[in-house]
Amino acid sequence: MNLNKEQQEILNGSRGPILAKYMKWLTDWGTVMGAERLIKVNNTHALLPVPNLLAEGASENTMNEYVNNLREALSQPTDKKCFCSVHATFVSRYSVPNVKENTPEQVEIQRELSAMASNSGFIPTFTCAPYLVGNVPIKGEICAWTESSAVVYANSIFGARTTRHGTESAIAASLLGWVPEFGVLINENRKGTLLIEVTANLDDPTDFGALGYFAGKKAGLGIPVFNGVKHLSQEDAKQLCAALASSGGVTMCHVVGITPEANDLEQAFQGNIPKDSVTFDQKALEATYKQLQTNTGDEVDMVSLGCPHASVRELSQFAFLLKGKKIAKDVRLYINTAHGTLENAGVMGFKKIIEDAGGVFITDTCPMNLNMKAKRIVTHGFKQAHYARGISNAEVIIDRIEGCVEAAITGKWNKNTYNGN
Ligand code: F3S
Repeated sequence: MNLNKEQQEILNGSRGPILAKYMKWLTDWGTVMGAERLIKVNNTHALLPVPNLLAEGASENTMNEYVNNLREALSQPTDKKCFCSVHATFVSRYSVPNVKENTPEQVEIQRELSAMASNSGFIPTFTCAPYLVGNVPIKGEICAWTESSAVVYANSIFGARTTRHGTESAIAASLLGWVPEFGVLINENRKGTLLIEVTANLDDPTDFGALGYFAGKKAGLGIPVFNGVKHLSQEDAKQLCAALASSGGVTMCHVVGITPEANDLEQAFQGNIPKDSVTFDQKALEATYKQLQTNTGDEVDMVSLGCPHASVRELSQFAFLLKGKKIAKDVRLYINTAHGTLENAGVMGFKKIIEDAGGVFITDTCPMNLNMKAKRIVTHGFKQAHYARGISNAEVIIDRIEGCVEAAITGKWNKNTYNGN
């Protein structure tokens, strides 16, 4: 890789051993990925603290080394010209009833690292959807984001440019202000690789989750191009992008006539429109919903909403559906959101309505980090449904928001609310 004078000096230790180490990581990573140079990054979203579940089963030495590396990194300030935010963590600012958190030592370490991150210049968004709480990149902006669903969103919906980052590379980018140039940071690597003709009637965000789940499997590491989608709300896009990154390793997609690099098919494929296509019709929509239904009964004990983290609009919808109602006695209704969004919802009155009905907010973290135990979970997020089966061993039901809220109120999932058909 070709380094400029400043980069070479940092690698040689001009700004101390910690930055030299991170510069080496960036250049080693870039070399492996075929990058020829480092380019300026303006915006990062880093996963810093240790995920709860990672700590389970790891040796003490491994954990100590991991945590000490993070402490060392967070002793450095972030690059002055780079806007850096922090991904969801493990601990929650709010108490989470009936959830067995990890050891008190782990909780303490998480809190220490979160505080260190804020001191070193990271904006404490603590969310998997940073674009809902202030980290909104513009078209062409070079970013270094962790969180696969947010990466797809940033590339596809904003036209920003980020490869899929891990903790170490996002920290290196945040401290140094550079990233190796490869993958979707380069124009020609942003062209579509798979044409998906959408004929199904998509009129709910969870339907877009189904589309993403279907397409992620077909596209693998490629870039799907959706043709025939008539509209896309922020919540539709959130579900689409999260599902694409769950069933596949997708980094971005195009939605013809809607997303910024796909005015038409020609632009989406950069001139090479494929002859073959895959169709997502009503049958495929129905089959994709069914694929993730693993329930052997309809009694539910947990309803989880807000994957990716709920927007104000979703919180207003939950409040509207829950107003004057009560959650069934044996059901826990968890609503995952960013603490900034919850503050907004508090001012607008939605928080109280939801809490009065018995809903519990989980902020700053991901329910999958909390090792929640349940027999049967209902959720509107395909990503959540995908991971909940593996992590919590629970049976999973996926439904639109209305069906999820109805299940929380009655304690039973009414399959007639299921909207895949
Ligand atoms: Fe966010 Fe967790 Fe879903 S990180 S996207 S709430 S699985």
